[in-house]
Amino acid sequence: QAIRFDYSNARTFVKPHEWEQLAPAIGQAHEMLHKRTGPGRDYLGWVDWPERYDRAEYERIRQAAARISSDSDVLLVIGIGGSYLGAKAVLDILGHSFYNLLPKSKRRSPEIYFVGNNISPVYISHLMDVLEGKDASINVISKSGTTTEPAIAFRLFRNWLEKKYGREKAKERIYITTDKSRGALKKLADEEGYETFVIPDDIGGRYSVLTAVGLLPIAVSGADMDALMQGAADAREQYMVMDLHENPCYQYAAIRNALYRKGKMVELLVSYEPQFRFFAEWWKQLFGESEGKDGKGIFPASAEFSADLHSLGQYIQDGMRHLFETTVSVTKPAIDMTVQGDPDDVDGLNFLTGKHMGFVNKKAFEGTVLAHVAGGVPNLLIEIPEATAYHVGGLIYFFEKACGISGYLLGVNPFDQPGVEAYKANMFALLGKPGYEEQKAELEARLRD
Ligand code: PA5
Repeated sequence: QAIRFDYSNARTFVKPHEWEQLAPAIGQAHEMLHKRTGPGRDYLGWVDWPERYDRAEYERIRQAAARISSDSDVLLVIGIGGSYLGAKAVLDILGHSFYNLLPKSKRRSPEIYFVGNNISPVYISHLMDVLEGKDASINVISKSGTTTEPAIAFRLFRNWLEKKYGREKAKERIYITTDKSRGALKKLADEEGYETFVIPDDIGGRYSVLTAVGLLPIAVSGADMDALMQGAADAREQYMVMDLHENPCYQYAAIRNALYRKGKMVELLVSYEPQFRFFAEWWKQLFGESEGKDGKGIFPASAEFSADLHSLGQYIQDGMRHLFETTVSVTKPAIDMTVQGDPDDVDGLNFLTGKHMGFVNKKAFEGTVLAHVAGGVPNLLIEIPEATAYHVGGLIYFFEKACGISGYLLGVNPFDQPGVEAYKANMFALLGKPGYEEQKAELEARLRD
């Protein structure tokens, strides 16, 4: 059995009829998604992707990953937003918490670092310190090929590789994931003879983790990409059912919309496993870019418990009542440990001696849910049996589909992101990009005012 969705702790906030009344709208959203009649219809390639992905490219990904693993100590993954968050999320959940720090003998893959997701010279130069004396390969991921952050990083690390290995040898260490025929990166890759992988035209960045965008870094990490894809394929089958009562993915979409209509404007994605930190980042991009538009949308936020119970916990329990929580949980932790006894019992915790930490974590979760629900915060639970590639694949698909359906319920186009252009235009103008002269003058005047 795959994902369990439990909304019993939202029952006192939203009555069954409130979300069940959304059934006809869910039916419409389902039709729009599957018949490709809704807004953003040209970006629905992800819906059937787990079934129809390009098997030949998939094999090339596997081979490239084997090559990288054999000739590199380090893989640098250069990309931002949808071009990195999915891979980072999956690597963190399926990999070792300290995978880059493990001794080589205990590691099944190269160290993997993500770069090009900020414009920080500090971050980049610190990364360069780590690379000293190591063999490296680069996977640059950018659909447009011109995104500022990864483009700046690629300039730097391409130079670094060429200095280290010479231009010809460096070419064998550069892997490009980009549009199949257009864009600056594709042109460069063709000219230089870099190996390329495709970001399909009909799949937007935030829906692209199961394409080469996510799969090459995931394959390099040694995670089981067959199981990941199988989990997504099975979820696709499972969440195809139009009936709201039979489909937990649609129930999640419906309930969060019902809560939103009652003033619950912020959804906190919560986990009790630090390995899920980047899964929450991926989820925030997915829902934030898909729903936050036209003056509407649930604000997607995240918290990591129990750490954040010692900080945000106060607000969640007692602050403005515009929140609901969605906990992503794993029934069986991959590893468990027992709490140690202490002869002096200085902290008074000897009553926990011998108890599994997984059990303590579970009680922290149960206690938190009870407290937060009593404090006016509805709670949803999405639970996978184990943090395996198969279940993570299913979870990714669950959220992708819920997001598409939820966006249609909200009445937005869940597959565009016009809002991300505004800052870029201003940044280019302020940096003096040719063609932005008028805007530059106007913005500089505003900065002076
Ligand atoms: O979801 C999106 O479309 C964005 O987050 C993009 O993935 C991000 O801006 C990176 O774009 P690109 O792949 O063109 O470099």
